Parts: sequence; C-alpha cells; structure tokens
Amino acid sequence: MNDQKKRIDILLGQLTLEEKASLCSGRDFWHLEGIDRLDISSIMVTDGPHGLRKQSGSGDHVGLGESVPATCFPTAVTLASSWDRELLKDVGEALAAECLEEKVSVLLGPGVNIKRNPLCGRNFEYFSEDPYISGELAAAMINGVQNKGIGTSLKHFAANNQEFYRMTIDTIVDERTLREIYLSGFEKAVKKAQPWTVMNAYNQLNGEFCGESPRLLSRILKEEWGHEGLVVTDWGATNDRVEGLKAGEELEMPGNGGFNDRKIVEAVKKGELDEAVLNSRVCRILELILKSEAALASDHKYSRKEHHELAVKVAAQSMVLLKNDNQRLPLKKKGKIALIGDFAENPRYQGAGSSIINPTRIDSALEAFKSSAGEDYTVIYARGFSTKKDIIDETLIEEALALVKEADQTVIFAGLPPSFESEGFDRSHMSLPNNQLKLIETLLEADPKAVIVLSNGSPVELPFLDKCDAILESYLGGQGGGTAIKQILLGEINPSGKIAETFPLKLDDIPSKNYFPGTPRQVLYKEGLYVGYRYFDRAEMEVLFPFGHGLSYTEFTYSAITLSSREINGGDKVTIRCKVKNTGTMAGKEVVQLYVRDEESTVYRPDKELKGFEKIELAPGEEKEVSFELDKRSFAFYDVDSRDWQIEDGRFEILVGASSQDIRLWDTLTVKSDFSVLAGEADRTYKSIYKRIHYIGKGDFEKLLGRSIPPEKAVKPYHKNSTMADISGTFIGKQLKKHVAKSFAEAFGEMEESTALMMDSMLAEMPLRSLVMMGGDKFTENMMKGLLHMVNGRFVRGLFLFLKK
Ligand code: BGC
Repeated sequence: MNDQKKRIDILLGQLTLEEKASLCSGRDFWHLEGIDRLDISSIMVTDGPHGLRKQSGSGDHVGLGESVPATCFPTAVTLASSWDRELLKDVGEALAAECLEEKVSVLLGPGVNIKRNPLCGRNFEYFSEDPYISGELAAAMINGVQNKGIGTSLKHFAANNQEFYRMTIDTIVDERTLREIYLSGFEKAVKKAQPWTVMNAYNQLNGEFCGESPRLLSRILKEEWGHEGLVVTDWGATNDRVEGLKAGEELEMPGNGGFNDRKIVEAVKKGELDEAVLNSRVCRILELILKSEAALASDHKYSRKEHHELAVKVAAQSMVLLKNDNQRLPLKKKGKIALIGDFAENPRYQGAGSSIINPTRIDSALEAFKSSAGEDYTVIYARGFSTKKDIIDETLIEEALALVKEADQTVIFAGLPPSFESEGFDRSHMSLPNNQLKLIETLLEADPKAVIVLSNGSPVELPFLDKCDAILESYLGGQGGGTAIKQILLGEINPSGKIAETFPLKLDDIPSKNYFPGTPRQVLYKEGLYVGYRYFDRAEMEVLFPFGHGLSYTEFTYSAITLSSREINGGDKVTIRCKVKNTGTMAGKEVVQLYVRDEESTVYRPDKELKGFEKIELAPGEEKEVSFELDKRSFAFYDVDSRDWQIEDGRFEILVGASSQDIRLWDTLTVKSDFSVLAGEADRTYKSIYKRIHYIGKGDFEKLLGRSIPPEKAVKPYHKNSTMADISGTFIGKQLKKHVAKSFAEAFGEMEESTALMMDSMLAEMPLRSLVMMGGDKFTENMMKGLLHMVNGRFVRGLFLFLKK
C-alpha cells in the first residue's frame, strides 16, 4: 500500500459519519470541504475550460464580477480546428501553470459534448460533431493539465447537447447511438487520460438524471471504462443526493449549506445507505484532496508574456481558411488596407457564460495591423455596424463604403455578437445579424475582392459566399486572436486549421432540425447516428463546407498508400501508411485524415467515420510519410444485443484525405470475424432513414430504441422538478418569479445583454428544487413543499407548511 492509500485508510477510521458526509459537498461555490482537526485542506476548483476563472470570495458571479486576470486561450471550437494533439497538450500545461500560481486544484474542463445541432448555445465550448476527434483532443489537453499535478473535469456527462431546459430535460436516445456518438468521446478521454474528475450533466438520460444513473456512473464509467477519479455534479444538478451517491456520484457542488449532508447521515442511520458506499465515495474525494495538496505545496509563477504568445500561436494554428479563390489571400503588404467591422476593433474572442475569462490582455486585429503598418501599407478603419443592437445604420454603412472606395484592399470583420450565442440558451437561427449582412452586401458590390473574417462559435449561413473570394473563419480566437488574424491575412503564418464540424448550406438541412431542442420535458434523438458528416455524406447532401475542410497557402499532394496487411482478424491491428508532399512554395501544415467505410453491413452505418488524423509540417518540396494504426474499434459498431463492440466480417475501405469530402487515397482490406448480428439488432437498422431524416415517425424511432417512447411527464400536479415557467400561470408562481428575478437583479447588478438573456432562461427553466439549494435558510425544503401544495390548489395546507419553514 502506498503512503497516500495508508493515509486515506487512517483518515477514514478517524472521520465521524457527519464529517464524511460533509466532505461530499462543497464548502461554498468553489471550495471543497476540509476538516481542520485532521489537516484535510479545503481545495479550490474553478472554470474552465480555456482559461482560469478564479473568483475571490465564496459566491459565483456568472462572469459578472471580474475573476483574477488569466490567459484566455481560444475556446474549444477553435482549439479543435487545430487538429493538433501537441498544441492541446501545450495549452493544458499552460493552464496548469496558471492553476499552480493561483492555487487552484482542478480546472473545470474540457467539455466533450457532441455538436448534435449547430444551434446549441454552448457549441463554442465543445470540440466537434465527431466523437473520435473530441476524445483525442480532450485526452491531450487533460494529459497536459494533469502532467503538472492539476486536475481536470471532463464534462458534461452525458448527452447534454443543448441548453434548452438543460436542468430537467429528458434526452431519449437509443443505446447504439449513445455508445457510438455521445459516449465514445468521454470513453476515449477517460481511458487515455484518466481525468481526476468527471462532471455529470444536468439533464436526464432515458428517464434518469445523469447524476442518479448507476448504469452511467458506476457500470459504464467506473467499471467498464475504469475511471479512477471522482464524479462531481454540475453546479446545482443535484436532484436526490442520496440516490446520486448510491449511483456513483462522489461530490456535490456547490455547497448545500449542510442540507444534503444531513440527508446522507440520516440515510446511513436508517440503513437506507450502506456506509461502505459512503466510504468508497469519500475515499475518492480524499485521494483528490491529497493529490492536490502535494502539487500545490510549493509556490509557482508563470510568465504572462509567454502564455500570451502561446495564445497567439494556438489561435494562428487553429483558424480556418474556408475559401480563397483567385489567391485573394494573403493580402499584399502595400497601399491602403481598409478594416471594416466592429470586431476588428472589439474582437469577439470568447463565449458567454461560466467560461468567461478576464484576460491578461486583448489583441485586436486593428491594433495588430497598425503596429506592423509603416511604409509598405497603411490601415484605415470603420466600424460598419453595432454589435449591441441589430439595427441597420445607414450612416455607419456609408462611412464604411467611403473607406472601401478609397482603399486598395478590404477586410470585413463579421460574426456573432455575444447575445446571439451563449451558455444558457440556444440560437433560434443560423444567420448573421441583419446589420452585418446588409453591410457585407453593400461592400462586396463596391469591392468584390473584399475578404471576410468571421468570429463566431458555431456555423453560420453565408448568403454572400458566391460573391466573395476569401473567407477566414477565426472562430473565437482567445486574447491573442487579433494578432493571429493579422499574421494569417498578411501571410506571415500559413493557415492550417480545418473545421471539426460541418457548415451546412442552411438550417433546414440539419438532420436533427425537427427534433431539436424538443419540448421542455423531452428531446428525442430521432436521427440516431446521422449526426454531422455521418448524415451529410451518407445522404450526399451539398454543404457549404464539409467536416475536416480547411485551405492552405500551399498545396499538398498525397501518394503511396500501403497497408501492413490486406486481411486481418477482427481485433488485430493494421498499419496504414501514405506520403504527403508540399508541392507549393510556402512552408505549411497539413491535417491528414483517415476515414473507414464498411462496404456492406447488416446494421446501418454512416457513410464513413473518422478513425485517425495527423498534423504534419512540410517545407516547400518536402515529403513525409504519415502512418496510422487501426485497431478493433476502428471497424466495430456497438452491438446492443451482445452489449459489446463487434465487427461484421467483410471488406472495409480505408480513405485518406484532406477532408471528409476530399478523399485523395483509398484502399480496401478484409476483416475476418465470426460475429453475426442477431435479428433484434438487424431490425433496428435505419438503413434508408436518411432519405426522410426530417420525418422520422414514432414507429421507426421505437424500432431503433427497442422500446416505446416514454410518455412525457405530465405538467400537473406540480412537483419539485416543475420549472418556474411551469408554475408561472398560477398567482403564487407569478409572485415567486418576480421575487427571484428581483433578487437576481440585486445580486448581479447591471448585466451584459448575453448575461441578461442567460439569466432570463435560467429563471424560466429553473426547477423548484433549485430554490432550496440557492435559498439557504431563507428557503427551506418545507417551504418548497408548502409552495407545491399552494400551486397545486391546496392553499391553506401549503401556507401552513410554508410559514412553518
Ligand atoms: C456549467 C459548468 C460549469 C459550472 C461552474 C455550470 O452551470 O454547466 O460547465 O463548470 O457551472 O461554473
């Protein structure tokens, strides 16, 4: 037994039942409980994921009160477009260095939820529509952080793919889709990097709160995948604490004022909760505390300058050149360059919500251009539009037009203002604001050579695509994004990012369009495996830009694909090699992608799936060999009947290319397997469903689910998971909503528009149980019970209970 295990054993013997229960929840918003008499310290955790949001004091300010200055790296959508594991590891190490200086033990990230639909308000905080790249990059980042002795929190486990009613909604998804799409990113990250904590999601999954699902937390996460760390609730996700603990949840955050700790003690005393279960949960919490104590024992300092330089480098390696006809980019370093659009001066560099960082500095593209302007070129700037209100302002447009006419080259900075996408609510459309569309249209008429730079956290429709030559997707580039944009536009850096999501032509094309975001009670994942390119490629749908797409200022040619074997037994590994040469004149990096296609199968399968990628750097004329190792999972599907990953005997195509639709090399191999699909699984096949993806009926979905669609829970009688919106039709509900809205306003003061919108949906969607968690002594469980009696029409009884407190 090592020293730490010995100490934990001793501590377990010394802790009283009450102390053990107290360790299972936070001391406050950001600290775990400690026990002074036993020298167990109270450690701190902090958001995440692309920077440190350390707030002093015990409360949360949802990004309102400033947190300590920290480096704001590009958000996950941007990081993912780098397709660069090393870079993600570097970011992880830098984040850990900041945690070490700030004495923060766990950074709350990364998030690997799948981008099921581009409208999810929080997509900027997630990597991809594909679980393979999500898992690979998350693992790299986690390893980077944890190598330095700081923990991570892989979130939000699981199937939390929208913001709409995220606290209570029930996600209904079939087992195969769950395993292949929504869990496998988590699985990869857990197996490859052992995050010290996993954060369970707010929502319900197939009828159970994620935090109360023994299957998800104990059987899948702990037993099947071997997760050694602890499970922490998302902030305020607790529904029934004792059930959560039994299911496999260790830590409740934030603190509950002792309310749920008392329930744990009571449950043990009544024999409803085995103390051995509590001990095993406490053990994992102690392990985390002791590990962190060791890492934070000495003092550390990081260089703000070096971290800023890293933030610039990462942004420059991640931005994606979507279009570059007539070699419009790089810009020529001469004459007058007009930069148009508010985002040139006031960059949109991060997303709104719990991930907001207070950056150590912010580079705007305007400053960056100006600082390197001189004799070669000069810079002129016009705002063009307001990001505060989507109103077409002819004066701003006229002013911009005048500059464009005067300039030799024009760059238009467009994108989504924070009030368009944020944690807490989803988008309702994929358009850019009207005032920007009008500006772009007007300026492109005057200068069809104008270049567009986009800043957004998720795909937008591009009605002007055919009218412009060049588009750079800068996503949300973090505090160094402005400099990175300048470096790419001026050709100082060769762009090498590729989108890790599909840009559809329009909202209507998205497979989950009719099933997103569902009703306030239930969302049905009727599209099954047909998410992102898995659908678009299978249906041969035209898209704006396919998954994996991204251009460079140089050219790459692919050749000489070889397979280490043409026939393997399912379970054996096979190595694929190919050569890639830089045939252009500029040094550059290429992301080489490998997809696998099952030529024929009994079960339905996507057209192809990403199973490998490598990013390589090549000087002009240089050629390199790239190799990929494929294993059982590269060919397997999740078989519901045998509850395992299985391969069907037959031929598979190996496709190597520059995007999911730009396949440059291919070959085939035979995989031998004696597995045969049972009738049950074959029945669940969705082979041709993509042809009518928007009209999947109850019967089809039930076949896939293998059971009936559970009925939506009735709104009445109201219960503890009824929301403020549910009860807002009642007199009491109205008063309560007003009261809570007032206390939010008092607590948070003046808010940014995006935060105000987030607060509005938080308020409407808040389950009544949250009042107890937030209310402390002011709103007790009895009061909630009283309230429920009142809104359910038992006024006198309810009032009596309410007043009793
Ligand atoms: C978010 C988490 C975040 C936590 C703490 C929650 O609302 O969903 O991602 O880590 O708050 O701020």
